[in-house]
Amino acid sequence: MSTASSSQKVIPAGMIDLGIGQPSPWLLPAAAMQKAAGHCAKDPGCVLLAYGVEQGDGHFRLALSGFLEGIYGMPVEPAHLLVTNGASQAIDLICTLFSKAGDTIFVEEPTYFLARKIFADHQLEPVALPMDEDGLIVDAVEGELKRSRPAFLYSIPTYHNPTSACLSGARRKQLVELCRRYELLVVADEVYHPLSYTSVPPPPLAAFCTSAPVISLGSFSKILAPGLRLGWLQAAPEVIERIVRCGLLDSGGGLNPFTSGVVRSALELGLVDKNLALLKDTYSRRMQAMCAALRSQTPESIRFSEPSGGFFIWLSLPEGRDALAILSKAKERNIEFMPGSKFSSRHGLKNFLRLSFAYYDTPDLLKGIERLVAVIGEC
Ligand SMILES: Cc1ncc(COP(=O)(O)O)c(C=O)c1O
Repeated sequence: MSTASSSQKVIPAGMIDLGIGQPSPWLLPAAAMQKAAGHCAKDPGCVLLAYGVEQGDGHFRLALSGFLEGIYGMPVEPAHLLVTNGASQAIDLICTLFSKAGDTIFVEEPTYFLARKIFADHQLEPVALPMDEDGLIVDAVEGELKRSRPAFLYSIPTYHNPTSACLSGARRKQLVELCRRYELLVVADEVYHPLSYTSVPPPPLAAFCTSAPVISLGSFSKILAPGLRLGWLQAAPEVIERIVRCGLLDSGGGLNPFTSGVVRSALELGLVDKNLALLKDTYSRRMQAMCAALRSQTPESIRFSEPSGGFFIWLSLPEGRDALAILSKAKERNIEFMPGSKFSSRHGLKNFLRLSFAYYDTPDLLKGIERLVAVIGEC
């Protein structure tokens, strides 16, 4: 194994870093993107190279809505979609437009660690709400709403990062009803929704975006390639209108018109569907192999739930164990993971760790599990 690099870190030779939550290099669809780029280069007026319309190109949004209708099993209006530079940028934009420094926001405990950083950039104060295996505990949201009024609630309802939990259909309805009643804006980060392996998730929160204050985020990072920096948000027309009028889009025009032209071709040529099928097949095999290894090699005191989609396995160690302390020992044995504390907004989750099956193929994943189990045993 040679030294490999990811956007966030360089992986030393010999190291297996199960913390990496991005696709293996061989899963990046170079040939498909070359084909799509050739197809869209036929654009006669070089329209894609000009400033784009603020909401994003209408042809791209039409192709995207057709794709999403297939995934979500419901109608998706192109008028309710706005093109973004990916979910991270969408979160940043929502913070800019729908909150101000010092505001409270609600987040899940745990939550996506890099979203925490974006919220900190905006000087927002997170209030952490509990989750269980069915996702966010909505009763706790209502309890907290009686104490404080946040600018918004940030939730990852489907195949959560890091837990892979999927918010149940009943809780989705309860949450939507609650956010209507309290006029609570819900920012639903649904980037993993298309990556289902062993069961079909309930409808996305995007399904409620015109009947409740919900903004749903999606991204091509998880289903095509993160380097495209292309995503979308789905929201009611009045929310889209507010975003379209913002300074960023007024000055620079729509986000990423060139890439969205290439991805429009990829969608129209069926290349995104094909890539998604490959990813689902690959990730699902890896996940099952990894879970089988964990089941057979770990003691009962180490617990996890087999994910039904997404990128991650969330392991819990016995109370009192410290994953961060184990990590420093693990690095000496060429194995890394993400300690749970990174995902906590209240310095908790010390006895948890997140493993990803997105980057390595099964043989390396199994080697990684062996090393990890040995290190945990030693510690
Ligand atoms: C929950 C969640 N949201 C957003 C992102 C980042 O998405 P993007 O590449 O579209 O900015 C990630 C990537 O790990 C993620 O796990």
